[in-house]
Amino acid sequence: MSVGPVIEITGDGSHTLFLPELEEHYHSVNGAIQESKHVFIEAGLRHLKRDVVHIFEVGFGTGLNAFLSLIESDASREIHYTTIEAYPLPLSIIKQLNYADKYSQEQQDLFYKLHEVEWGTEQWITPGFYLTKIQTDLNQLDFSVLKSFDIIYFDAFAPDKQAEMWSQQIFDQMYNITNEQGMLVTYCAKGVVRRMMQQSGYKTERLPGPPGKREMLRATKL
Ligand SMILES: C[S@@+](CC[C@H](N)C(=O)[O-])C[C@H]1O[C@@H](n2cnc3c(N)ncnc32)[C@H](O)[C@@H]1O
Repeated sequence: MSVGPVIEITGDGSHTLFLPELEEHYHSVNGAIQESKHVFIEAGLRHLKRDVVHIFEVGFGTGLNAFLSLIESDASREIHYTTIEAYPLPLSIIKQLNYADKYSQEQQDLFYKLHEVEWGTEQWITPGFYLTKIQTDLNQLDFSVLKSFDIIYFDAFAPDKQAEMWSQQIFDQMYNITNEQGMLVTYCAKGVVRRMMQQSGYKTERLPGPPGKREMLRATKL
């Protein structure tokens, strides 16, 4: 019998999920919010100076990256966020997560709205944030139905747990859907992953990682 995800507290007080069958966490145990802000928001979204930003995420999961991106959007920065997820989490788990606790009631409601809106078509969340959730396996995704993107949040489980998510073919497909001057960011800094990104055509940078992790990667399409 498979055991579902278990909620745990990370180093910054925010929750993560632990998947016993994979022996893997959804986020850094040193701090889930801290990691998401460092890798995806600071090194990705805030690094790109554009008024309209198209984001593609691999692994919607708890919706933490989507929520923190939504917080960054406003009247002068419109975000179109497309995310894929093979195994959507039940609302009963989402409702126990503390990601929105320190935010206003309106923003807490928006965290749930991200999870409650329909899958498969673009949904209006706020005047500055549009969400498209696609339920699919990355390895079966029909890339021809996707637009192209300014930022890719590559947030799959680690390569030693899910090698099939970190192949040359996947990074070639990621490169093809990245706009010029666009980028892919990931918490993973492994040399073999960096070399696959370079082989796809990206210029890669090793950046300081979030607390507990020496480095992360940002790959730019020049
Ligand atoms: C490291 S977790 C990160 C999730 C999310 N970004 C978050 O902050 O909660 C990886 C996510 O990828 C999803 N996933 C695993 N295998 C997948 C696949 N083959 N295709 C698409 N998503 C997958 C998992 O279910 C999980 O939600």
